[in-house]
Amino acid sequence: MNDVSRQSHWEKVYATKGESEVSWFQETPVTSLELIGLAGAIRTSGIIDIGGGASRLADGLVSQGFEDVTVLDLSAAALAAARSRMGDNANRVTWIAADVTIWEPSRTYDVWHDRAAFHFLTDPEDQAAYIARLRRALRPGGHAIIGTFALDGPERCSGLAVSRHDAGSLAATLGGGFELIDTRRHEHITPWGTPQRFQFSTFRREQSG
Ligand SMILES: C[S@@+](CC[C@H](N)C(=O)[O-])C[C@H]1O[C@@H](n2cnc3c(N)ncnc32)[C@H](O)[C@@H]1O
Repeated sequence: MNDVSRQSHWEKVYATKGESEVSWFQETPVTSLELIGLAGAIRTSGIIDIGGGASRLADGLVSQGFEDVTVLDLSAAALAAARSRMGDNANRVTWIAADVTIWEPSRTYDVWHDRAAFHFLTDPEDQAAYIARLRRALRPGGHAIIGTFALDGPERCSGLAVSRHDAGSLAATLGGGFELIDTRRHEHITPWGTPQRFQFSTFRREQSG
């Protein structure tokens, strides 16, 4: 899928569906918040949510007192929905409308979080472009938390094919310089009651990686 069709797909999704009409909706992103805590994040840590869409993760982080939260997503409509929901708290978040595979990071972060965005990159070139941005934007010693459909999870999401993973396949895709520190399975229940098996793996970026 090229950059233009990818963007128009996601803009259409967020322009036509309400927050709880998408399969990935979560009232509270419990697993993500827990893993960000396990990564040792403190109030001043730089945290970026890649493909954050209209997720409530930013709301949860701001309400827990995190002061340096960024949400990046391809869809400006998704970011607008999140900002509108958060009201004044939206001013405490940095919003970046960009395709992560062509984004030029201008700073580094302590925590890179991604729930269900990386798995849409099925083309090895797009995966490599994503990983190049991860290596530039995540400081040595920082943590990358990547949630995808598990190997026995759905083959498609939002009508698009996905790459399913476990910790081993993610580690192999990321390449050297990342130490796996936690992996867990999570069963997400869609708003219409269908279970979806996810995996979340947390990697620490090695000092010399
Ligand atoms: C399944 S949704 C998950 C949204 C959010 N992470 C959550 O857990 O609610 C996937 C998100 O990834 C975004 N996305 C897909 N490809 C992307 C890309 N190449 N760059 C940035 N965002 C992307 C989509 O716009 C969408 O918001």
